[in-house]
Amino acid sequence: MRRKFAAGNWKMNGLSADLAELERMVAAKPSAAVDTAVCGPATLVHRMAQMGWPVGGQDCHPAENGAHTGDISAEMLADAGASYVITGHSERRADHGETDAVVRAKTEAAWRAGLTAILCIGETEAQYRAGDTLDVLHRQMAGSMPEGCTGDTIVLAYEPVWAIGTGLTPTADEIGAVHNALRDALIDRFGPETGVAIRILYGGSVKASNAAEIFGIADVDGALVGGASLKADDFLPIVDALDAAD
Ligand code: 13P
Repeated sequence: MRRKFAAGNWKMNGLSADLAELERMVAAKPSAAVDTAVCGPATLVHRMAQMGWPVGGQDCHPAENGAHTGDISAEMLADAGASYVITGHSERRADHGETDAVVRAKTEAAWRAGLTAILCIGETEAQYRAGDTLDVLHRQMAGSMPEGCTGDTIVLAYEPVWAIGTGLTPTADEIGAVHNALRDALIDRFGPETGVAIRILYGGSVKASNAAEIFGIADVDGALVGGASLKADDFLPIVDALDAAD
């Protein structure tokens, strides 16, 4: 069945001194029953990868190399020791105008380099209030998930934009209804075997105090954690809560 997965997203945070936090996470030796990863800033990916904790990037360019000043390819992340890359994070969609087609190309680039993509989808507050959540998510899935997704090559992360960094989260019932609908959509598109093999993470204001409740929801296979992944004292209890969840 699906392995539980707790992934951190450090976003644009982390200097050399902050590697001490990752060192503490490694030293704590969390349960081997939970997959973990930290998606660090590109400047730290190589050093993180040498510390014995699975590492991801936060974005990649669709191309393997070329004249794209400031961009990083999936091959470069893999070469630096990454195993994962986040694609389609709402902050990339908003700050850099990334469309579903771009996210799809980046996800295919991740596969080309042998990385697992952590593909993010999520509705804005206005879309949530209008009751459009599932329509938005289905559209994003159709547009940004390539053909040929498997349980090994993609992890889907449901991150309501209005829950990111706000301390707000949907209710447990709302998260459950969304994850259930996403599971159905995965089965519809990729078939029953693959559809149940792809992990679905929840992201948006996950912290130690709400982790157990969120991980108790059916079809929540783990979390993509922002702010609470920066410190070992905040992230390790989340990993423990995931380990303890049924
Ligand atoms: P927070 O956990 O800080 O709300 O961020 C969630 C997120 O965007 C992870 O990708």
